[in-house]
Amino acid sequence: MSHAAPAPVLTIDGPSGSGKGTISALVAEHLGWRLLDSGALYRAVGYAAGMAGLDLSDVDAVTRCAQATKIHFRAASDGSQTRVIVNGHDATDELRTETAGAAASAIASMPSVREALVALQLGFRKAPGLVADGRDMGTVIFPDAAYKVFLTASAAERAKRRYKQLKEKGLSVTLGGLQREIEARDSRDASRAVAPLKPAEDAVLVDTTGMGIDEVVAKVLAVVQP
Ligand code: DC
Repeated sequence: MSHAAPAPVLTIDGPSGSGKGTISALVAEHLGWRLLDSGALYRAVGYAAGMAGLDLSDVDAVTRCAQATKIHFRAASDGSQTRVIVNGHDATDELRTETAGAAASAIASMPSVREALVALQLGFRKAPGLVADGRDMGTVIFPDAAYKVFLTASAAERAKRRYKQLKEKGLSVTLGGLQREIEARDSRDASRAVAPLKPAEDAVLVDTTGMGIDEVVAKVLAVVQP
């Protein structure tokens, strides 16, 4: 019996606002590969825990919630944003809020919550390939990935990008407030004991400060197709 080689993986890790989401989606589309938005999984668990009225610092309760939460991605028929279905409810819009991001960051520091999401993430690895977007894709979940990228950008630039996105959605936010939130989340994500945010040793670092989307996509694609 022959065993097929596992599907190729391109990991794209980096801090919030580095453009990972946009770049990963475009690169996956270009390659015709599947996409794993792992941040959405942490957001979904934070959201489900909030809906259940759980105390987000109660590790046992949040872990049980992570194990029980049903998360599905559904491609939009018109090619627009992929929908995230949490326990049967389309929570896509709720998951993008700053509140959901903060809840995700808090529960993502719990090793047992991370453990509960491992199998789900590994299941995304299917032919013809996978683009995995997150914080620990190249270091913990897919350490054997053939292609690894770490995207960064200055905190000021990331706050500016996020500000523009949220303003377009009509949300009321301040640039200074966003930059402070981004810096606080970065340091929480980088200093946690499990799966801290750091580039894999074999990752290609791409600083996207001042770069346009097309330029970043081209740089990332060059890692897979030199
Ligand atoms: O990428 P994002 O902003 O959607 O991620 C939300 C939070 O989830 C972020 O604060 C860090 C956490 N996260 C993580 O710990 N590991 C991942 N692979 C992805 C996200």
